[in-house]
Amino acid sequence: MSVINKENFTAYLPDEEAQLQFAGKLAKVCFPGMLVFLFGDLGAGKTTFVRGFLRALGFDGIVKSPTYTLVEPYQLKDMMVYHFDLYRLADPEELEYAGGRDYFDGSSISLIEWPQQAEGYLPKPDIIINLSYAEAGRNLQLSAGTEAGKKVVLQLFPD
Ligand SMILES: Nc1ncnc2c1ncn2[C@@H]1O[C@H](COP(=O)(O)OP(=O)(O)OP(=O)(O)O)[C@@H](O)[C@H]1O
Ligand SMILES: [Mg+2]
Repeated sequence: MSVINKENFTAYLPDEEAQLQFAGKLAKVCFPGMLVFLFGDLGAGKTTFVRGFLRALGFDGIVKSPTYTLVEPYQLKDMMVYHFDLYRLADPEELEYAGGRDYFDGSSISLIEWPQQAEGYLPKPDIIINLSYAEAGRNLQLSAGTEAGKKVVLQLFPD
């Protein structure tokens, strides 16, 4: 892992399994209210990341991007997790028709693929993840966007 500082680092994830594992680690230290942005080209592994995140929190069903809606809700043991995929968002106002703002009330976690599609319409993310192709695997760059996000990210470093 290459560490610039503990709130901003990159990790090489050689395969899908490594990506699922990393996402699971983050899930275990996240708490309700966290907003996670997932950037990365088509196929960079954003949905895979969400799958690993949900599995670590006990969800063992199928996780795929919502197709006809912008958001897929997951009821976990003691909170909701929302998975947004805004790739097909034509107009950010659609988010508000979908009740967008109500998702970010502090009681649930939201992970958003293609957040740039709704620039200016989303709250500030606590955690920002950038996934990019690197050899056969992916580089993950993570940074904290808020104080709450920093607290979460620091917990990824045991010492
Ligand atoms: N770290 C990794 N190394 C190699 N392959 C990976 C890694 N993470 C995910 N993949 C693979 O990349 C493919 C695309 O993954 P995924 O669907 O998660 O991408 P995505 O970013 O959600 O794409 P889209 O923008 O189309 O929604 C899958 O086949 C998955 O197994
Ligand atoms: Mg996806």
